[in-house]
Amino acid sequence: MKEENNNYNVPLHVAIIMDGNGRWAVNKGKKRQAGHKQGSKTLETICKQAYDLGIRYITTYAFSTENWSRPKEEVDNLMNLLRHYLKTSLKNAIKDNMRVRVIGDKTGLDDDIIESINKLEEGSKNNTGLQLQIALNYGGRDEIVRMTQKILSDYENNKIEINDINIDMISKYMDTADIPDPDLLIRTSGEMRLSNFLLWQIAYTEFYFVEKHWPDFNIEDLKDAIAYYNKTDRRYGGV
Ligand code: IPE
Ligand code: IPE
Ligand code: MG
Repeated sequence: MKEENNNYNVPLHVAIIMDGNGRWAVNKGKKRQAGHKQGSKTLETICKQAYDLGIRYITTYAFSTENWSRPKEEVDNLMNLLRHYLKTSLKNAIKDNMRVRVIGDKTGLDDDIIESINKLEEGSKNNTGLQLQIALNYGGRDEIVRMTQKILSDYENNKIEINDINIDMISKYMDTADIPDPDLLIRTSGEMRLSNFLLWQIAYTEFYFVEKHWPDFNIEDLKDAIAYYNKTDRRYGGV
């Protein structure tokens, strides 16, 4: 879906793989955690600016199901940064009229983090500005496994029949139920891969890869991504 805004076709929904925090820090002779901290600030700034450009949904990859394989020190640091981010986010969400939701397997996170997520989701659920989805302990394959489990459980409880299963119905069982599919996916830091992000939802998403590391990503880069998006011819299999 495209939305008109000052001659720009602004993507309604942008998905972001915020990659390169570690390399950004190492290049500056700092610890990787400094990159994660700066990266979380970049996210806050970009969310505000994106809304002003006309973007209405952002889904961003913050911690994958595979990121647990990193050294314990880095995982602990990321979880502590997340604790801090979730606490300040509620204030920011209220101030900026932003709705925040978390996608991913929340059950795999610590209890206090789950509690902060619930508070943030509940406290921002009526906000009508930017709709921000943060992917935490998220994997596209894991989401498909959990979707299948939910469907089978509803089938066993006689809530659905086999013929009820179709594309729209599956979409409603995904973590992104009721959120339109991303129009544009941005990955920073040069790698051209998905790393298990939103496998179901990006069937017809346009991809934009940029060499810059996430902490350095700014509004001009976002505008470049939108300009690229404007050059694409979204055909959805048609002519
Ligand atoms: C992305 O940056 C953030 C997370 C995966 C949590 P990285 O930590 O992957 O940074 P690089 O890719 O190693 O530079
Ligand atoms: C993807 O980045 C996950 C996040 C940005 C949170 P990774 O750095 O984990 O991906 P790979 O390991 O390079 O594929
Ligand atoms: Mg990385």
